[in-house]
Amino acid sequence: MNGVTGRMGTNQHLVRSILAIRRQGGLALPDGSRVVPEPLLVGRSEEKLRGLAEEHGVGRWTTDLEGALGEPDHSIYFDAQATAVRAGAVERAIAAGKHVYCEKPSAPDLESALRIARLARAAGVRHGVVQDKLFLPGMRKLRALVEDGFFGRILSVRGEFGYWVFEGPEPTPQRPSWNYRAEDGGGILADMFSHWRYLLDHVIAPVRSVYALAATHIGERVDEGGSPYRCTAEDAAYAVFELEGGIVAQLNSSWCVRVDRDELLELQVDGSEGSAVAGLRDCRVQARADTPRAVWSPDVPNPLRFRDSWVDFAADGDYDNAFKAQWELFLRHVACGGPFPWDLYEGARGVQLAELASRSWREGRALEVPELPQ
Ligand SMILES: NC(=O)c1ccc[n+]([C@@H]2O[C@H](COP(=O)([O-])OP(=O)(O)OC[C@H]3O[C@@H](n4cnc5c(N)ncnc54)[C@H](O)[C@@H]3O)[C@@H](O)[C@H]2O)c1
Repeated sequence: MNGVTGRMGTNQHLVRSILAIRRQGGLALPDGSRVVPEPLLVGRSEEKLRGLAEEHGVGRWTTDLEGALGEPDHSIYFDAQATAVRAGAVERAIAAGKHVYCEKPSAPDLESALRIARLARAAGVRHGVVQDKLFLPGMRKLRALVEDGFFGRILSVRGEFGYWVFEGPEPTPQRPSWNYRAEDGGGILADMFSHWRYLLDHVIAPVRSVYALAATHIGERVDEGGSPYRCTAEDAAYAVFELEGGIVAQLNSSWCVRVDRDELLELQVDGSEGSAVAGLRDCRVQARADTPRAVWSPDVPNPLRFRDSWVDFAADGDYDNAFKAQWELFLRHVACGGPFPWDLYEGARGVQLAELASRSWREGRALEVPELPQ
């Protein structure tokens, strides 16, 4: 597990996924046996690795990636490093014959993302990219509504993602400073549009075009060492997508917005027969029959409490941590084969959309999303 001392590596992948799977006694396979992952923590700083290993009772760690890749016992290479350095490390792992699983975006540009996908396919190793939002309870409920035909004809999607990320030094920023430097692989387009691609494609309908306008609203922040730095990457993006079937999706992504929502990500889907608002966990719906008759009348207090016309949609299901749920599917895929659709080609689709959104912003026009080259 490389990059495991980072925010995502520690919290979501080590603690909430791999160690949680170990605590539950591993993962049951169809033949009755169990897979118990044995993590080896890999990183650049001995001190951080030792601290992390001691804190969580993990016996093995190393700063020698090459040595770890040379060990035949390690069957999977996992990467949660900063985005800019991921593709090179994944490539070395594939060359060493490892199965690979990595955070999104799989690479900083489409060419590198396709390169590692092709290398993995040619080497015959199993591969996957984190697409955690698909496994969130709120998004799974939304998908169930789409599959049930609840919306009738889907007309539009409007989404709000974001929150205020402190500039530093106090309160301390919630996100690492490289996120705000283009030269280090930062920027909200690369970060969030890799999520928007799989969410739109697989929860609503395939993305056909994108128009994006991005901005660097905050020009200076303070880094982990307390030094001010210039922000060279965009910290907000406002985008319009056309989806298959003429559905229009508008998504705002921002680290410079104060939250007046129930959740940090909310998608509202409006259809001819009903609407839904889905967040990370919850999903509320309003069917056509429950739609209040709104009338524009600003001179009198509004007689309707619009929020009262929505009801919670509580779907059955076992909603485990989204990262852990996908880890379990990947481990089963490695152990037993079978389909795992969220592979490096799917990861490359996310990078493709981020790259097109960035070009759209620079050129000031909407761009079609072409078929992904194989
Ligand atoms: N799936 C999600 O929802 C989600 C959310 C946030 C971040 N991410 C992705 O996870 C990855 C890690 O993000 P994070 O927020 O944990 O970052 P982080 O800065 O907290 O962690 C980055 C890790 O990479 C290591 N690293 C190796 N080489 C590096 C270099 N040259 N520069 C900087 N760090 C280097 C760091 O030591 C650290 O362990 C990113 O690719 C990011 O896009 C995914």
